Amino acid sequence: MPKIFKTQSGAVAIHKKHDAARAQQEETQEKKHSRTPELPRGMKDILPHEAPLWDILYARVAGTARSYGFEKIETPVVEESALFARSIGKDTDIVEKEMYAIAETEGVKLVLRPENTASIVRAYINHGMLNLPQPVKLWYWGQMFRHERPQSGRYRQFHQFGFEVLGDESPIVDAELILIAYNMYRDIGIDASIQINSIGCGQCRPLYHQALVAYYRTVRHEMCENCRKRLSKNSLRALDCKEPQCQPLKKDAPHCVDYLCEPCKEHFMSVLEYLDELDLPYFLNHALVRGLDYYNRTVFELYASGEEEGSQTALGGGGRYDGLVEILGGRPTPACGFAQGCERAVAKMKDNEMFKSHARTVDIFVAQLGNQAKSKALKLFEEVRATGITVAHNLGKNGLRPQLEIANKLGARYSLVIGQKEVQDETVIIRDMESGAQEVIGFNKTVRDLKKKLGLS
Ligand code: HAM
Repeated sequence: MPKIFKTQSGAVAIHKKHDAARAQQEETQEKKHSRTPELPRGMKDILPHEAPLWDILYARVAGTARSYGFEKIETPVVEESALFARSIGKDTDIVEKEMYAIAETEGVKLVLRPENTASIVRAYINHGMLNLPQPVKLWYWGQMFRHERPQSGRYRQFHQFGFEVLGDESPIVDAELILIAYNMYRDIGIDASIQINSIGCGQCRPLYHQALVAYYRTVRHEMCENCRKRLSKNSLRALDCKEPQCQPLKKDAPHCVDYLCEPCKEHFMSVLEYLDELDLPYFLNHALVRGLDYYNRTVFELYASGEEEGSQTALGGGGRYDGLVEILGGRPTPACGFAQGCERAVAKMKDNEMFKSHARTVDIFVAQLGNQAKSKALKLFEEVRATGITVAHNLGKNGLRPQLEIANKLGARYSLVIGQKEVQDETVIIRDMESGAQEVIGFNKTVRDLKKKLGLS
């Protein structure tokens, strides 16, 4: 029953009280029924159990880059839209349909980068790297954004690492980059297969374009609408099309290698000879043209061995882009590079026995029973932690069983258990989490014994 005030302002006070109560009620209802916002479609959380594999991949990529003499570069995820329209090409899926436009400031359209090669070339020109001793060898790691139809291994935000060599036209650069890409996979236990092709240059490609258009005109009625539309402007895109109806048409299409000019032919033969010399297994894929317009001459992709050719899940890809620096306003500079998808690499690492032990997040778990044991456990935890050994506890839990369950989930190799008896005896129980075997040791000797068990002393 609301209290009635005699004053005039009293009525207002009662109203205010009612309004506040209603607002609070509505807020509680809203909280009850409102759903938790979901992860946006095509995005991925990297959860703690996967994070160690990401760290390993990053460390291997960084180590490989260092050993081959590449320097790290980081560019922003936001770039001018024109950068990609001019480099990847206006008639490509990426530029036509997949870029995330984020803003227009001072008449400049900004997008989230769908790839990084164009940004590297922009940075190379912007920062006068043309004047450094050539070649300039750069590597990167970062998020890319493409508004694609999500499916297994295909995300709208994904990570790539890439290696780019600017300022060297020799075919041995192409071969070395393919070697690096291949070795990267071998080092993480993936047997990769290399697919390679040459798509010629500005001199010889027009001839090939004519032959390709002539061929596709004969099967025009069987092509998807998009390919039909693009045919006369950019016939190579038909070879790159992922629509099921366009797949059988590729089989009878003319091969670019049959139309190469002498310098392009010589370049390609040299690349293949180097690959032979390096004993790298490769497969000539005449339909491989890559989905970005900046390429010329050598193009390549890597797949996990046994995975279907032309599937949507290339582990990585790259090629030459000798015209791109000039297209973006620099002086003519040959260049070549590749990028690999990190999500796809980590997915392969997960299946690999070699990395199973890295899925463990801690080596040691400290468990306790009783209040006195809690403070001893915290002391022990700090001592172990200070040595650099990975260690966890859950001092809020009381029973031993729930604590050992946590230890198991974390993949701990040993648990250290302290109960009332151990507090009195100044001892600790070491439990091998795999065999269940237990032994009792003196509290002060715990760290030394652990180091021995973990092979650290
Ligand atoms: P790309 O073939 O578009 O090339 O991408 C390279 C790799 O990134 C792919 O092989 C794949 O592993 C990964 N990737 C691409 N899109 C997605 C996606 N939606 N979800 C998950 N992974 C994806 C380039 O980006 C060129 N910039 C490569 C390059 C460097 N060429 C010369 N230098």
